[in-house]
Amino acid sequence: MSIVKIKDKTFETSIPEATIKERVRQLAQQMSKDLDGKNPVLLGVLNGSFIFAADLMREMTIPCEISFVKLASYQGTTSTGKVHEVLGINEDLSDRHVVIVEDIVDTGRTMKQMVESLGTRNPASIHICTLFVKPDKLEEKLDIEYAAFSIPNDFIVGYGLDYDQQGRGLKEIFTLVEG
Ligand code: IMP
Ligand code: MG
Repeated sequence: MSIVKIKDKTFETSIPEATIKERVRQLAQQMSKDLDGKNPVLLGVLNGSFIFAADLMREMTIPCEISFVKLASYQGTTSTGKVHEVLGINEDLSDRHVVIVEDIVDTGRTMKQMVESLGTRNPASIHICTLFVKPDKLEEKLDIEYAAFSIPNDFIVGYGLDYDQQGRGLKEIFTLVEG
């Protein structure tokens, strides 16, 4: 068990590097099977998904392409978070099979907005792939076809995920130690 301190918080290892690698490989195999012959576009959501998307693509066994979108969410006065595209999609996605690649689906609001905004670009199909999902916090109805890990309602960092922009380069997943 290793411990890291990031700013004012303490985190401890929860998922080792080898376990992440194996699950990413399994997901890529499943996706390669399901999307064979469709030349899918992986659409990574920045910043959190950059490491996952890179590893996932390298484990894919079929031709595929990659692009990224950057979102910023603003907390309004209502319960519905608004998500705004900071770095938009330049590619023509019409008639393409698109796989949204996220680091983590928490309430699901970000993903819901992604699916809705992608829908206006007339893709042939939209699929959701996420490294983590927190089922207890999910508020939106989403068809998450590919999820590497379902986790409890804890705060995690590492493998692309951050705490206040720190910790993204950690090779393992670390969970916040409460208290
Ligand atoms: P949602 O819109 O509530 O699903 O929020 C998803 C976003 O919140 C993710 O893309 C992350 O950027 C962030 N997030 C949620 N939970 C965590 C966590 O445990 N660690 C790091 N970031 C998180
Ligand atoms: Mg994110």
